Amino acid sequence: MKLRQVPLLFFLLLFLASCTLLFPTHFFTNHIYNSTFLFCSYLKSKRIASTTRSNLHLSNTSIWCDRTDHHSDICFMSGDVRTHSPSSSISLYLPPSNPSNWVIKEERIRPYTRKWETPLMDTIDEIILRTASRNDSFHHKCDVTHDSPALVFSAAGYTGNLFHSFNNVLLPLYITSQHLNQHVVLVVCGYRNWWYRKYEEILSQISEHPIVDFSNDTRTHCFPAAIVGLRFHGTLSVEPRRLHDRKSIMDFQNFLRKSYEPNNKRIEVYSKKKNHTPKLVIISRKGTREIENERDVIQVSKKVGFDVEVLSPNETMPLKHIFDKLSKSDVVMGVHGAGLTHFLFMRPGSMLIQIEPLGVADEAWQCFGEPALKMGIRYINYKVNLSESSLYKKYPISAMDTNAMESKKKGWKHTKEVYLEGQNVTLDLNRVKKVLTQAIGDLGF
Ligand SMILES: *[C@@H]1O[C@H](CO)[C@@H](O)[C@H](O)[C@H]1NC(C)=O
Ligand SMILES: *[C@@H]1O[C@H](CO)[C@@H](O)[C@H](O)[C@H]1NC(C)=O
Ligand SMILES: *[C@@H]1O[C@H](CO)[C@@H](O)[C@H](O)[C@H]1NC(C)=O
Ligand SMILES: *[C@@H]1O[C@H](CO)[C@@H](O)[C@H](O)[C@H]1NC(C)=O
Ligand SMILES: *[C@@H]1O[C@H](CO)[C@@H](O)[C@H](O)[C@H]1NC(C)=O
Ligand SMILES: *[C@@H]1O[C@H](CO)[C@@H](O)[C@H](O)[C@H]1NC(C)=O
Ligand SMILES: *[C@@H]1O[C@H](CO)[C@@H](O)[C@H](O)[C@H]1NC(C)=O
Repeated sequence: MKLRQVPLLFFLLLFLASCTLLFPTHFFTNHIYNSTFLFCSYLKSKRIASTTRSNLHLSNTSIWCDRTDHHSDICFMSGDVRTHSPSSSISLYLPPSNPSNWVIKEERIRPYTRKWETPLMDTIDEIILRTASRNDSFHHKCDVTHDSPALVFSAAGYTGNLFHSFNNVLLPLYITSQHLNQHVVLVVCGYRNWWYRKYEEILSQISEHPIVDFSNDTRTHCFPAAIVGLRFHGTLSVEPRRLHDRKSIMDFQNFLRKSYEPNNKRIEVYSKKKNHTPKLVIISRKGTREIENERDVIQVSKKVGFDVEVLSPNETMPLKHIFDKLSKSDVVMGVHGAGLTHFLFMRPGSMLIQIEPLGVADEAWQCFGEPALKMGIRYINYKVNLSESSLYKKYPISAMDTNAMESKKKGWKHTKEVYLEGQNVTLDLNRVKKVLTQAIGDLGF
């Protein structure tokens, strides 16, 4: 696909200009790297000075980086852009005509959206961006020449975790590149085959071109422009006012639908069908935060009137399969955990019931509750009480004062060990019945 330089610059500029209002978030930090846990943000209303438009020199003679955001840096280069993966660098060769305009410059960037988390960011490869004289390009010949700009990012970090795959890579990819209408080449650091296979449908909706594995592919790839790094708008969210075309999380949801159902053009909103048995999908976990009486819960759900399906997502289950189930469900229920990230596949108007174990109220709200509501999904937070939590049996009753249990004073490590790794639930069946009956009522059955 041919992308002319003028519209590209125009889009890039529009994009830059529209992203100057930044609301940083503040986090509680943690010290786990290979985590199967998800870390949510703690929003603060503090606002930082917005970038002024005078910063935006986007010409063929310079590299421009926006480092004002709390979550990620992003750099732009336009002109004669060439990769050199052995040195982890990307060069912008400056035209010889008017050397007085040259800005010789070097920038370094780790293209991952958790900039504030130093120990993790140290594991992300650093990319060097530099300007150089066109004369030097003689020794750096193009092996592959692309017509579309490059989008360079890291698929490492916490990408093994589904929540982080969406929150820190896929959604930021969408935010950063949707305006390019697939005319973009994804240049991936920390590329892994399993990652590509798992998210193939989504990645091929983002870009119509084959992916470049930056670490392994040592050929020189040449581009008319490059965006290095990804934008981040908040936990599983898209902020319309930060995109020039006012796209929202609903547009991302339609984008997912297009990924998994390419022939379905319609925006599907939930509506109750006549003579239809409401469908409940239980997202099941094993080992930790497990519903110990899941069988009984299924029985009760059936009695309330649901057609029940239990889904135990794992690494190998195709996302398309999960999409098919959740996008046709009326209610999805599950205990707080990365598996709930699949709520992104639900239709607006359908219902998510999050079972919130002790001690993870903030995470439950930040990771799933609030994002689900923003997506137009009905939401019930089922907070387990003491007698429903396995912690009740494990810890002395005095320590079980809910307030004390839920205080974050002991930090993330404590939260992880006690509440996330160390807790199962046994749901009170009367309460389950009540909540599901309410769900059926709310949906209009
Ligand atoms: C993360 O995982 C890799 C490979 O599985 C391992 O080599 C490394 O030590 C782990 N790092 C931490 C901090 O656990
Ligand atoms: C910028 O560089 C691109 C790609 O090398 C080139 O096609 C374009 O004409 C250049 N624009 C200007 C204003 O020099
Ligand atoms: C680039 O090469 C031209 C011709 O070979 C030479 O005149 C010019 O000085 C060189 N420029 C730089 C910056 O080395
Ligand atoms: C590296 O790239 C080569 C050629 O593109 C490919 O055959 C090979 O499988 C790649 N290796 C890895 C580890 O991805
Ligand atoms: C994942 O789930 C599928 C379907 O339930 C199952 O066949 C497969 O063995 C599971 N894989 C792993 C690694 O647990
Ligand atoms: C938990 O909830 C059940 C029913 O909702 C109630 O009977 C029980 O007293 C509650 N237990 C505690 C410790 O709050
Ligand atoms: C949760 O229940 C499962 C199955 O009974 C058990 O294997 C696991 O150890 C339990 N986990 C916790 C944290 O209690």
